[in-house]
Amino acid sequence: MSTFINRREFVKLSAFASGSQLLNSCSTQATSMSPHNMCDFAAPKIEKVRVAVVGLGNRGYGAVQRLMKIADLEIVAFSDLEEAKVKKANTLLRNAGLKEAKEFFSGPEDYKSICDMGIDLMYCVTSWDYHTPISVYAMESGVHAATEVPAGKTIDEMWELVETSEKTQKHCMMLENCCYDFFELTSLNMVRQGVFGELTHAEGAYIHCLSESMMGSSSENSGGWRTKENVGIHGNLYPTHGLGPVAQCLDINRGNRFEYLVSMSSQEAAFSSFARKKGRKDMLNINFRGDMNTSVLKTVKGQTVMIQHDVSSPRPYSRIHMLQGNRGMVRKYPREEYALLDYHKAHEFLDKEEKKELEAKYRHPLIKTLGDVAKKVGGHGGMDFMMDYRLIYCLKNGLPLDQNVYDAATWTSLYPLSIESVKRRSTSVDVPDFTRGKWKNNKQLPIVDVNPKKLKLYNTDTASGQLSV
Ligand SMILES: NC(=O)c1ccc[n+]([C@@H]2O[C@H](COP(=O)([O-])OP(=O)(O)OC[C@H]3O[C@@H](n4cnc5c(N)ncnc54)[C@H](O)[C@@H]3O)[C@@H](O)[C@H]2O)c1
Repeated sequence: MSTFINRREFVKLSAFASGSQLLNSCSTQATSMSPHNMCDFAAPKIEKVRVAVVGLGNRGYGAVQRLMKIADLEIVAFSDLEEAKVKKANTLLRNAGLKEAKEFFSGPEDYKSICDMGIDLMYCVTSWDYHTPISVYAMESGVHAATEVPAGKTIDEMWELVETSEKTQKHCMMLENCCYDFFELTSLNMVRQGVFGELTHAEGAYIHCLSESMMGSSSENSGGWRTKENVGIHGNLYPTHGLGPVAQCLDINRGNRFEYLVSMSSQEAAFSSFARKKGRKDMLNINFRGDMNTSVLKTVKGQTVMIQHDVSSPRPYSRIHMLQGNRGMVRKYPREEYALLDYHKAHEFLDKEEKKELEAKYRHPLIKTLGDVAKKVGGHGGMDFMMDYRLIYCLKNGLPLDQNVYDAATWTSLYPLSIESVKRRSTSVDVPDFTRGKWKNNKQLPIVDVNPKKLKLYNTDTASGQLSV
């Protein structure tokens, strides 16, 4: 018998031992390595990357506007549940003088026919229920998968992504754009250069008052799904914007890993008070998620990471992004600040000039090469385009992606694990080792850059109309 125990066998065995299916699907640790390692995996080069965009709501439409700026890429298929959204996306291509994409709007499983077209990349921007099914189907069909955040909703789905990516040798990247934000990239470079010394603690968050938008729509296809996801469960539903960038700084899955976490949720008060104010009786007494969720993860190296989630309380946007080391700290929200032993013994934050100098010295090379173009193309100030460009650049040039399936699974897993911990009076819950031990030897994520000659863009100065290479 093979010494490799797959996840489902392990879960069955452990559930038998303790009688708790969910607990054990959360604490799965197989005893031997899987045959393929998707960390630093490089697929064969693709001359012109053929992409399908599935889900053309707010985020999907924005993705099309960015992807169509890349000349070494062809958008070959569009799919949405609503015909009008597909037509609208094709209008973008037509107005730019690009070949129109094949249109799909017959139902939620159109992605299957799209995979049969022989595409290279499935770019999934649907509501959450479809992220894992679409990505898994794509990989099974020989197509690389890129999926919006979160990569799925359950621990089982995370294992399915990992197992499928390993088995098919296809990339599965979660589109965690915040890892490409300018401040986060530069702080990653500073971590690598030892500016903060040895990291001991980090904080991240998704704090974004969305009460208004969650109140606005009841249609499942146009944002109503978001409200539904916040009902009946208590935890951190959207952890990856805060967790991804700090996990990269802590070398998670690359020499370090999360071992366990605890999570706690406050009571609900903000959403219902908003609903009362708006006269939305249908939105009262719906067991809406507790306003603030705070989770703390522990790494095997000893660091602690606090991640918060609150999308209903009235307050300014924050992802915190705080890194503490034994030589200083950095924090992005509410103001970008550094305190370092080398400056004022870290008792004060750096002043404007000191901060400017420090950031210039450690600016991430990707920002130097691509920052101006990315700002012009846009998408959350440019970070979305930095991500898209790097993704397509790596596919075209046969390079490993910056984010792999283990990152997608680990960062997303805080979603179901926090719910489980909250349910059990904040008891600690193990974080699965999705790499099955490979984290010990996986190399640190390099400080990456691009050569613009190796992935051509259309003229990004052209706001609309004919694009020229
Ligand atoms: N990374 C970020 O910064 C960021 C920002 C916003 C949203 N998102 C993510 O993007 C995704 C979409 O969010 P949104 O705000 O655009 O939502 P949206 O409701 O505006 O759009 C979702 C679209 O997907 C379509 N859809 C759903 N299931 C489908 C299926 N099976 N096949 C084809 N189309 C399908 C719907 O008809 C809808 O048009 C979500 O997963 C969200 O978490 C990420």
